[in-house]
Amino acid sequence: MTIKIGWIGCGIHATQMLLPQLVRHDVEIVALCDIDPKRLKDAGRQFGVTRLTTDAQELLSTPGIDAVGMAVGPDQHLAFGKAALERGLSVFMEKPPSGSAAGARELLAASEKAKKPLLLGFMKRYSIGNRMASNIVKSGRFGDVLGLTGYYMTAPGYFTGNVDYTGFFLHHCVHYMDLVSFMVSPVRSISAKKVEKTPGRVLFHVGFEFECGAIGNIAMGTIQSRGTPVERLELMGDHQRIEVDDVIEIRWHRNPPFKIDDLGATLDEAADTLTWKPNFTAAANEDPKGYHALLSDVVPALMGKTTPAPSIADGVVAMERLETLRKELAL
Ligand SMILES: NC(=O)c1ccc[n+]([C@@H]2O[C@H](COP(=O)([O-])OP(=O)(O)OC[C@H]3O[C@@H](n4cnc5c(N)ncnc54)[C@H](O)[C@@H]3O)[C@@H](O)[C@H]2O)c1
Repeated sequence: MTIKIGWIGCGIHATQMLLPQLVRHDVEIVALCDIDPKRLKDAGRQFGVTRLTTDAQELLSTPGIDAVGMAVGPDQHLAFGKAALERGLSVFMEKPPSGSAAGARELLAASEKAKKPLLLGFMKRYSIGNRMASNIVKSGRFGDVLGLTGYYMTAPGYFTGNVDYTGFFLHHCVHYMDLVSFMVSPVRSISAKKVEKTPGRVLFHVGFEFECGAIGNIAMGTIQSRGTPVERLELMGDHQRIEVDDVIEIRWHRNPPFKIDDLGATLDEAADTLTWKPNFTAAANEDPKGYHALLSDVVPALMGKTTPAPSIADGVVAMERLETLRKELAL
Protein backbone atom coordinates (compact mmCIF):
# COMPACT_ATOMS: atom_id res chain seq x y z
CA MET A 1 0.00 0.00 0.00
CA THR A 2 1.37 3.38 -0.96
CA ILE A 3 2.24 5.41 2.10
CA LYS A 4 1.36 9.10 2.06
CA ILE A 5 4.08 11.31 3.48
CA GLY A 6 4.40 14.96 4.41
CA TRP A 7 7.99 16.22 4.45
CA ILE A 8 9.53 19.09 6.45
CA GLY A 9 12.88 20.63 5.48
CA CYS A 10 13.87 20.87 1.83
CA GLY A 11 17.55 21.60 2.44
CA ILE A 12 20.60 20.08 0.87
CA HIS A 13 20.43 16.74 2.59
CA ALA A 14 16.73 16.20 1.97
CA THR A 15 16.73 17.20 -1.69
CA GLN A 16 20.03 15.57 -2.65
CA MET A 17 20.11 12.41 -0.53
CA LEU A 18 16.88 11.45 1.20
CA LEU A 19 13.98 12.40 -1.05
CA PRO A 20 15.53 10.97 -4.25
CA GLN A 21 15.94 7.64 -2.42
CA LEU A 22 12.58 7.86 -0.65
CA VAL A 23 10.62 8.13 -3.90
CA ARG A 24 12.16 4.84 -5.10
CA HIS A 25 9.99 3.22 -2.42
CA ASP A 26 6.21 2.85 -2.48
CA VAL A 27 5.49 6.32 -1.16
CA GLU A 28 3.63 9.41 -2.28
CA ILE A 29 5.02 12.71 -1.10
CA VAL A 30 1.80 14.63 -0.59
CA ALA A 31 3.12 17.90 0.83
CA LEU A 32 6.39 19.71 1.43
CA CYS A 33 7.39 22.38 3.93
CA ASP A 34 10.34 24.75 4.24
CA ILE A 35 10.59 28.29 5.58
CA ASP A 36 12.76 29.21 2.59
CA PRO A 37 10.31 29.84 -0.29
CA LYS A 38 12.89 29.23 -3.02
CA ARG A 39 14.00 25.91 -1.59
CA LEU A 40 10.36 24.94 -1.16
CA LYS A 41 9.47 25.82 -4.73
CA ASP A 42 12.54 24.06 -6.13
CA ALA A 43 11.78 20.91 -4.15
CA GLY A 44 8.16 20.98 -5.29
CA ARG A 45 9.32 21.04 -8.90
CA GLN A 46 12.00 18.40 -8.31
CA PHE A 47 9.65 15.90 -6.67
CA GLY A 48 6.40 16.85 -8.41
CA VAL A 49 4.67 18.05 -5.25
CA THR A 50 2.18 20.93 -5.50
CA ARG A 51 1.00 21.19 -1.90
CA LEU A 52 3.67 23.50 -0.47
CA THR A 53 3.74 25.38 2.83
CA THR A 54 6.18 27.41 4.89
CA ASP A 55 4.35 26.44 8.10
CA ALA A 56 5.24 23.10 9.69
CA GLN A 57 2.00 23.00 11.70
CA GLU A 58 0.04 23.33 8.46
CA LEU A 59 2.09 20.50 6.95
CA LEU A 60 1.25 18.31 9.93
CA SER A 61 -2.46 18.92 9.41
CA THR A 62 -2.38 17.86 5.73
CA PRO A 63 -5.42 15.61 5.29
CA GLY A 64 -4.76 11.95 4.59
CA ILE A 65 -1.06 11.70 5.46
CA ASP A 66 0.18 8.56 7.24
CA ALA A 67 3.60 9.80 8.23
CA VAL A 68 5.94 12.76 8.39
CA GLY A 69 9.58 12.87 7.40
CA MET A 70 11.96 15.63 8.38
CA ALA A 71 15.53 16.81 7.89
CA VAL A 72 15.69 20.21 9.52
CA GLY A 73 17.79 20.61 12.67
CA PRO A 74 17.95 19.50 16.31
CA ASP A 75 15.40 21.89 17.86
CA GLN A 76 12.92 21.50 15.01
CA HIS A 77 13.24 17.72 15.16
CA LEU A 78 12.16 17.83 18.79
CA ALA A 79 9.28 20.28 18.28
CA PHE A 80 7.93 18.86 15.01
CA GLY A 81 8.55 15.25 16.05
CA LYS A 82 6.45 15.68 19.20
CA ALA A 83 3.73 17.59 17.35
CA ALA A 84 3.52 14.90 14.65
CA LEU A 85 3.34 12.06 17.18
CA GLU A 86 0.66 13.92 19.14
CA ARG A 87 -1.36 13.96 15.93
CA GLY A 88 -0.96 10.19 15.66
CA LEU A 89 1.48 10.34 12.74
CA SER A 90 4.44 8.00 12.34
CA VAL A 91 7.72 9.88 12.00
CA PHE A 92 11.06 9.53 10.26
CA MET A 93 13.65 12.11 11.24
CA GLU A 94 17.25 12.72 10.42
CA LYS A 95 19.72 12.78 13.23
CA PRO A 96 20.06 14.30 15.72
CA PRO A 97 16.84 13.48 17.56
CA SER A 98 16.78 16.89 19.26
CA GLY A 99 19.78 18.70 20.73
CA SER A 100 20.02 16.73 23.96
CA ALA A 101 19.52 13.35 25.58
CA ALA A 102 16.60 14.82 27.52
CA GLY A 103 14.98 15.87 24.24
CA ALA A 104 15.51 12.39 22.80
CA ARG A 105 13.85 10.92 25.90
CA GLU A 106 10.88 13.29 25.37
CA LEU A 107 10.58 12.02 21.81
CA LEU A 108 10.72 8.41 22.99
CA ALA A 109 7.96 9.11 25.52
CA ALA A 110 5.87 10.83 22.84
CA SER A 111 6.31 7.85 20.50
CA GLU A 112 5.33 5.38 23.23
CA LYS A 113 2.34 7.48 24.24
CA ALA A 114 1.09 7.79 20.67
CA LYS A 115 1.94 4.14 19.95
CA LYS A 116 3.49 5.39 16.72
CA PRO A 117 7.02 4.66 15.55
CA LEU A 118 9.77 7.27 15.35
CA LEU A 119 12.58 6.10 13.08
CA LEU A 120 15.97 7.75 12.79
CA GLY A 121 18.44 8.44 10.00
CA PHE A 122 21.35 6.44 11.41
CA MET A 123 22.28 5.27 7.92
CA LYS A 124 25.90 4.43 8.82
CA ARG A 125 24.45 1.06 9.82
CA TYR A 126 23.38 0.66 6.20
CA SER A 127 26.50 2.03 4.46
CA ILE A 128 27.52 -0.97 2.46
CA GLY A 129 31.03 -1.60 3.86
CA ASN A 130 29.87 -1.23 7.47
CA ARG A 131 26.91 -3.46 6.71
CA MET A 132 29.05 -6.20 5.22
CA ALA A 133 31.42 -6.07 8.19
CA SER A 134 28.52 -6.37 10.59
CA ASN A 135 27.02 -9.23 8.56
CA ILE A 136 30.33 -11.12 8.63
CA VAL A 137 30.49 -10.76 12.41
CA LYS A 138 26.84 -11.80 12.82
CA SER A 139 27.40 -14.86 10.61
CA GLY A 140 29.65 -16.30 13.34
CA ARG A 141 32.55 -16.75 10.89
CA PHE A 142 34.59 -13.98 12.50
CA GLY A 143 34.50 -15.22 16.07
CA ASP A 144 34.48 -12.74 18.93
CA VAL A 145 35.18 -9.09 18.18
CA LEU A 146 38.04 -8.13 20.49
CA GLY A 147 38.68 -4.60 19.35
CA LEU A 148 37.33 -1.73 17.27
CA THR A 149 39.49 1.10 15.97
CA GLY A 150 38.66 3.80 13.53
CA TYR A 151 38.31 7.44 12.78
CA TYR A 152 35.63 9.91 11.85
CA MET A 153 36.98 13.29 10.83
CA THR A 154 35.66 16.48 9.38
CA ALA A 155 36.95 19.92 8.55
CA PRO A 156 37.19 23.04 10.73
CA GLY A 157 35.29 25.09 8.13
CA TYR A 158 32.00 24.63 9.95
CA PHE A 159 33.34 26.56 12.92
CA THR A 160 34.58 29.74 11.27
CA GLY A 161 33.97 32.56 13.72
CA ASN A 162 32.06 30.26 16.05
CA VAL A 163 34.14 27.87 18.07
CA ASP A 164 31.22 25.86 19.31
CA TYR A 165 31.58 22.17 18.76
CA THR A 166 27.88 21.52 19.37
CA GLY A 167 27.22 21.08 15.66
CA PHE A 168 30.14 18.69 15.29
CA PHE A 169 28.86 16.55 18.15
CA LEU A 170 25.21 16.63 17.11
CA HIS A 171 25.58 16.28 13.36
CA HIS A 172 28.68 14.09 13.13
CA CYS A 173 29.82 12.34 16.32
CA VAL A 174 26.30 11.12 17.04
CA HIS A 175 26.59 8.70 14.09
CA TYR A 176 29.40 6.78 15.74
CA MET A 177 27.76 6.87 19.16
CA ASP A 178 25.18 4.67 17.45
CA LEU A 179 27.37 2.75 15.01
CA VAL A 180 29.89 1.32 17.48
CA SER A 181 27.21 -0.82 19.11
CA PHE A 182 25.82 -1.93 15.77
CA MET A 183 29.32 -3.18 14.94
CA VAL A 184 30.28 -4.58 18.38
CA SER A 185 27.88 -4.60 21.33
CA PRO A 186 26.36 -2.23 23.90
CA VAL A 187 28.88 0.13 25.49
CA ARG A 188 29.84 -0.25 29.14
CA SER A 189 31.99 2.88 29.48
CA ILE A 190 33.36 5.83 27.52
CA SER A 191 36.56 7.79 28.14
CA ALA A 192 38.23 10.43 25.99
CA LYS A 193 41.31 12.63 25.55
CA LYS A 194 41.64 15.70 23.35
CA VAL A 195 44.18 18.00 21.74
CA GLU A 196 43.07 21.47 20.64
CA LYS A 197 46.05 23.63 19.73
CA THR A 198 44.02 26.06 17.63
CA PRO A 199 40.44 27.10 18.41
CA GLY A 200 37.99 25.18 16.26
CA ARG A 201 40.55 22.48 15.42
CA VAL A 202 40.13 19.62 17.80
CA LEU A 203 41.22 16.00 17.77
CA PHE A 204 40.00 13.54 20.33
CA HIS A 205 40.37 9.84 20.93
CA VAL A 206 37.35 8.13 22.39
CA GLY A 207 37.91 4.89 24.30
CA PHE A 208 35.06 2.39 24.55
CA GLU A 209 34.67 -0.63 26.78
CA PHE A 210 31.99 -2.86 25.34
CA GLU A 211 29.68 -5.17 27.25
CA CYS A 212 30.95 -8.12 25.20
CA GLY A 213 34.46 -7.48 26.63
CA ALA A 214 35.88 -5.81 23.51
CA ILE A 215 37.75 -2.51 23.65
CA GLY A 216 37.55 0.29 21.14
CA ASN A 217 39.14 3.55 20.14
CA ILE A 218 37.77 6.06 17.65
CA ALA A 219 39.64 9.23 16.68
CA MET A 220 37.32 12.08 15.89
CA GLY A 221 37.97 15.66 15.06
CA THR A 222 37.67 18.75 12.94
CA ILE A 223 41.14 18.78 11.41
CA GLN A 224 40.79 17.04 8.05
CA SER A 225 39.56 18.19 4.67
CA ARG A 226 36.20 16.77 3.68
CA GLY A 227 37.76 16.41 0.25
CA THR A 228 39.55 13.33 1.59
CA PRO A 229 37.98 10.08 2.82
CA VAL A 230 37.17 10.79 6.47
CA GLU A 231 35.94 7.50 7.86
CA ARG A 232 37.66 4.23 8.62
CA LEU A 233 36.78 1.27 10.84
CA GLU A 234 38.66 -1.86 11.78
CA LEU A 235 37.29 -4.82 13.69
CA MET A 236 39.94 -6.97 15.35
CA GLY A 237 39.35 -10.65 16.03
CA ASP A 238 41.61 -13.61 16.69
CA HIS A 239 43.62 -14.11 13.47
CA GLN A 240 41.01 -12.15 11.59
CA ARG A 241 40.33 -8.50 11.02
CA ILE A 242 37.99 -6.48 8.87
CA GLU A 243 38.93 -3.07 7.56
CA VAL A 244 36.33 -0.71 6.13
CA ASP A 245 37.66 2.39 4.38
CA ASP A 246 35.46 5.31 3.43
CA VAL A 247 32.37 3.12 4.13
CA ILE A 248 32.72 1.38 0.76
CA GLU A 249 36.00 -0.52 0.61
CA ILE A 250 36.18 -3.64 2.68
CA ARG A 251 38.97 -6.14 3.36
CA TRP A 252 38.52 -9.25 5.48
CA HIS A 253 41.94 -10.56 6.48
CA ARG A 254 41.99 -14.10 7.79
CA ASN A 255 44.75 -16.59 8.51
CA PRO A 256 46.84 -17.34 5.41
CA PRO A 257 50.17 -19.15 5.58
CA PHE A 258 53.44 -17.45 4.46
CA LYS A 259 53.54 -17.57 0.69
CA ILE A 260 57.10 -16.63 -0.30
CA ASP A 261 58.77 -19.99 0.41
CA ASP A 262 55.99 -21.97 -1.22
CA LEU A 263 56.40 -22.15 -4.98
CA GLY A 264 52.98 -23.75 -5.14
CA ALA A 265 51.39 -20.81 -3.31
CA THR A 266 48.00 -19.77 -4.48
CA LEU A 267 45.03 -17.92 -3.08
CA ASP A 268 42.97 -20.01 -0.71
CA GLU A 269 39.24 -19.31 -0.50
CA ALA A 270 39.16 -20.23 3.17
CA ALA A 271 42.24 -18.37 4.40
CA ASP A 272 43.23 -15.45 2.20
CA THR A 273 41.95 -11.92 2.28
CA LEU A 274 38.58 -11.17 0.74
CA THR A 275 38.08 -7.68 -0.63
CA TRP A 276 35.26 -5.77 -2.18
CA LYS A 277 34.47 -2.29 -3.40
CA PRO A 278 31.55 -1.10 -5.50
CA ASN A 279 31.61 -0.62 -9.22
CA PHE A 280 30.86 3.04 -9.61
CA THR A 281 30.55 2.74 -13.37
CA ALA A 282 27.37 0.68 -13.04
CA ALA A 283 24.34 2.86 -13.62
CA ALA A 284 22.43 1.14 -10.85
CA ASN A 285 22.55 0.52 -7.10
CA GLU A 286 24.20 3.87 -6.58
CA ASP A 287 23.57 4.40 -2.92
CA PRO A 288 26.56 2.86 -1.13
CA LYS A 289 26.13 5.35 1.74
CA GLY A 290 22.95 3.53 2.72
CA TYR A 291 20.06 5.99 2.48
CA HIS A 292 18.04 3.77 0.16
CA ALA A 293 18.75 0.70 2.28
CA LEU A 294 17.85 2.54 5.48
CA LEU A 295 14.57 3.68 3.94
CA SER A 296 13.82 0.06 2.92
CA ASP A 297 13.49 -0.64 6.64
CA VAL A 298 11.99 2.75 7.53
CA VAL A 299 9.08 2.81 5.05
CA PRO A 300 7.44 -0.44 6.22
CA ALA A 301 8.14 0.53 9.84
CA LEU A 302 6.21 3.77 9.28
CA MET A 303 3.24 1.56 8.36
CA GLY A 304 3.52 -0.37 11.62
CA LYS A 305 5.70 -3.33 10.55
CA THR A 306 8.52 -4.44 12.82
CA THR A 307 11.83 -3.91 11.01
CA PRO A 308 15.42 -3.31 12.15
CA ALA A 309 15.18 0.42 11.30
CA PRO A 310 16.96 2.51 13.94
CA SER A 311 14.39 3.95 16.33
CA ILE A 312 14.18 6.71 18.90
CA ALA A 313 15.18 4.16 21.57
CA ASP A 314 18.51 3.87 19.72
CA GLY A 315 18.54 7.65 19.52
CA VAL A 316 18.28 8.00 23.29
CA VAL A 317 21.25 5.66 23.75
CA ALA A 318 23.35 7.57 21.19
CA MET A 319 22.47 10.97 22.66
CA GLU A 320 23.27 9.82 26.20
CA ARG A 321 26.67 8.56 25.01
CA LEU A 322 27.25 11.85 23.24
CA GLU A 323 26.66 13.76 26.46
CA THR A 324 28.98 11.45 28.39
CA LEU A 325 31.62 12.08 25.73
CA ARG A 326 31.24 15.86 25.88
CA LYS A 327 31.56 15.78 29.66
CA GLU A 328 34.72 13.67 29.41
CA LEU A 329 36.20 16.15 26.96
CA ALA A 330 34.91 19.29 28.70
CA LEU A 331 33.93 20.62 25.25
N1 LIG B 1 22.57 11.24 7.98
C1 LIG B 1 23.29 12.03 7.21
O1 LIG B 1 24.17 11.57 6.50
C2 LIG B 1 23.05 13.50 7.17
C3 LIG B 1 23.78 14.30 6.26
C4 LIG B 1 23.51 15.67 6.20
C5 LIG B 1 22.55 16.21 7.06
N2 LIG B 1 21.89 15.41 7.94
C6 LIG B 1 20.91 16.00 8.87
O2 LIG B 1 19.81 16.54 8.16
C7 LIG B 1 19.38 17.75 8.77
C8 LIG B 1 19.38 18.87 7.73
O3 LIG B 1 20.69 19.08 7.26
P1 LIG B 1 20.99 19.88 5.89
O4 LIG B 1 22.46 19.73 5.65
O5 LIG B 1 20.06 19.50 4.81
O6 LIG B 1 20.69 21.37 6.36
P2 LIG B 1 20.03 22.54 5.50
O7 LIG B 1 20.23 23.78 6.30
O8 LIG B 1 20.51 22.51 4.08
O9 LIG B 1 18.48 22.15 5.48
C9 LIG B 1 17.59 22.42 6.50
C10 LIG B 1 16.34 23.02 5.87
O10 LIG B 1 15.35 23.19 6.89
C11 LIG B 1 14.70 24.42 6.65
N3 LIG B 1 14.08 24.90 7.89
C12 LIG B 1 14.68 25.46 8.95
N4 LIG B 1 13.78 25.74 9.91
C13 LIG B 1 12.56 25.33 9.43
C14 LIG B 1 11.24 25.36 9.96
N5 LIG B 1 11.00 25.87 11.17
N6 LIG B 1 10.25 24.85 9.21
C15 LIG B 1 10.50 24.33 7.98
N7 LIG B 1 11.75 24.29 7.43
C16 LIG B 1 12.76 24.78 8.15
C17 LIG B 1 15.77 25.35 6.13
O11 LIG B 1 15.24 26.46 5.40
C18 LIG B 1 16.59 24.40 5.24
O12 LIG B 1 16.13 24.41 3.89
C19 LIG B 1 20.31 17.98 9.96
O13 LIG B 1 19.72 17.52 11.15
C20 LIG B 1 21.53 17.13 9.64
O14 LIG B 1 22.21 16.62 10.78
C21 LIG B 1 22.11 14.08 8.00
